[in-house]
Amino acid sequence: MSSPPLLEIRNLTKRFKDRPAVENAGFTIARGEFFSLLGPSGCGKTTLLRLVGGFIPPDDGTIFIDGEDVTTRPPEKRLVNTVFQSYAIFPHLDVAGNIAYGLRSEGVAAAERERRVTEALHLISLSGYGRRRPHELSGGERQRVALARALVKRPKLLLLDEPLGALDKHLRESMQIELRQIQREVGISFLFVTHDQEEALAMSDRIAVMQHGRVLQVADPKTLYDAPNSRAVASFIGTMNFFHGRVIGSDGAAVVVDLPDFGRLPVPKNGGDNFAPGTMVTVAIRPEKVTLSPVPAPGSVEGRIASITYLGDRSQIKLAVGTGKIPVTAILPQEQSIQPGADALYVSMPAVSILLLRD
Ligand SMILES: Nc1ncnc2c1ncn2[C@@H]1O[C@H](COP(=O)(O)OP(=O)(O)OP(=O)(O)O)[C@@H](O)[C@H]1O
Ligand SMILES: [Mg+2]
Repeated sequence: MSSPPLLEIRNLTKRFKDRPAVENAGFTIARGEFFSLLGPSGCGKTTLLRLVGGFIPPDDGTIFIDGEDVTTRPPEKRLVNTVFQSYAIFPHLDVAGNIAYGLRSEGVAAAERERRVTEALHLISLSGYGRRRPHELSGGERQRVALARALVKRPKLLLLDEPLGALDKHLRESMQIELRQIQREVGISFLFVTHDQEEALAMSDRIAVMQHGRVLQVADPKTLYDAPNSRAVASFIGTMNFFHGRVIGSDGAAVVVDLPDFGRLPVPKNGGDNFAPGTMVTVAIRPEKVTLSPVPAPGSVEGRIASITYLGDRSQIKLAVGTGKIPVTAILPQEQSIQPGADALYVSMPAVSILLLRD
């Protein structure tokens, strides 16, 4: 018999004054998985985390931890711990005192407490820092202490609400790597909240993308990037060109789409979706998949260069095609730089790189 997922939420809904903050959310998290909730401010990430932690009751739906229904259990009976955004560590306690705090209130004996604190300090690379006061620590060190304080209680699931949000970019990036290493080492499942797509892509085994309280897609980073299931997910993860068109026919595994500025293009159906002639669709392509050539190529259209932005190892080129209403963005590696003085290039969208999204 296969064991149940570590966390399963089903049809979870929470309303505040009749407005849903989380609506019909459902997914599972496996043992040892690093799982992120990603979405813009106000989309319901913290609310979903508080529901899982047991700090607020849902209006509808069920929460299972290790196969047990914990929906009505208080936080301390869920084997879940939380690290909040504003790393709440006690200024009047030293580092060891902060880490031991939860163990003391659980009645863990002094010798065992000391052993677990030493182990936790080692885990967060702060061995020897036990007697330091919080004001003697950097932001990153304080955040690691907050993490150790949550981990020392050995939860089955750790909830982290934008734990790196208060750190500057450089520290944030090194903490991302460190946090991921610690998570692998302890093997505890993490439910990590962030509104930073790069952070989510870099750290997670899987990501749930949320918008307006709904979970739009749950997938691993590569799938979210290569095969977003909707325009909302595609525009939230990375940059994407979108064009609006109409299906005019079908040809085996491809449909033929008529785009105002590009003409007719065969596009793979990706999946079993049935796109009948007349259906309005959005065609999407990543900037790095757009190809540019100084001479016409089969299926290419002429693009007038509107801007070139140098990005170090790459350049971003914006081009106007056809009526010029919707610019095409392309990314070129630096070695393929554009001839000085060029004002037009031929733009192609390779069919294999085009995504077809329903409007
Ligand atoms: N206690 C509350 N009472 C009323 N409305 C609330 C309450 N908590 C959250 N909301 C509303 O629910 C929605 C979701 O809020 P939530 O805090 O979950 O968003 P979030 O995704 O965590 O955003 P952020 O990235 O800014 O932290 C928002 O519209 C918010 O105003
Ligand atoms: Mg929040």
